[in-house]
Amino acid sequence: MIKIIAAVGKNLELGKNGGLIWHLPNDLKFFKSQTVGCMVAMGRNTYNSLPKKLPGRKHLVITDVDDFNKSVDDVDIFYNMEDMLKEIKKHSENEDVFIIGGASIYRQFVPFADELILTEVDAEAPDADVYFPVFDKAQYVREVVASNEDNGIKYEHVRYVRK
Ligand SMILES: NC(=O)c1ccc[n+]([C@@H]2O[C@H](COP(=O)([O-])OP(=O)(O)OC[C@H]3O[C@@H](n4cnc5c(N)ncnc54)[C@H](OP(=O)(O)O)[C@@H]3O)[C@@H](O)[C@H]2O)c1
Repeated sequence: MIKIIAAVGKNLELGKNGGLIWHLPNDLKFFKSQTVGCMVAMGRNTYNSLPKKLPGRKHLVITDVDDFNKSVDDVDIFYNMEDMLKEIKKHSENEDVFIIGGASIYRQFVPFADELILTEVDAEAPDADVYFPVFDKAQYVREVVASNEDNGIKYEHVRYVRK
């Protein structure tokens, strides 16, 4: 299956200044529990924002930059959406492949995702500069998987499964 995973604010806020908005250690643990052992696909900005490669996960990175990081272990580079999608579809027949952002990648992949796993944060961030795309909730069954909290910030792990 192709699964999108993201943490969003009340207005679908995703990030600011190239990084995340809220520091949510328990959500990072949840992200790890969902994605470990799987392929994770991302845009170049999100790849660059990682403090280090995510252990135990094969990275697929999309960029327009010709000579970007060609020789890093566990990182495959794609230069257009068609090639990346082909690779993702090949693997997603037998395993879960996660789309992990950022905004431009979520926009392009929502139509192809079987499931959206959203951490819905009960907070707003007026200074956000990237947003998750508005999607048609009527096309999905919504299930709250768990409630969580970090430093007084409440959030829910929600699964949207395409009908
Ligand atoms: N809240 C969350 O769950 C979450 C998750 C992930 C990221 N984020 C946040 O989202 C922000 C990053 O998002 P973003 O939208 O700025 O960047 P992004 O989606 O991570 O990466 C965008 C880059 O990907 C490449 N790209 C995208 N589509 C392409 C295509 N069709 N063909 C070739 N290259 C393509 C381009 O790279 P080049 O410029 O190299 O050509 C583009 O500049 C950060 O603030 C990050 O912290 C939040």
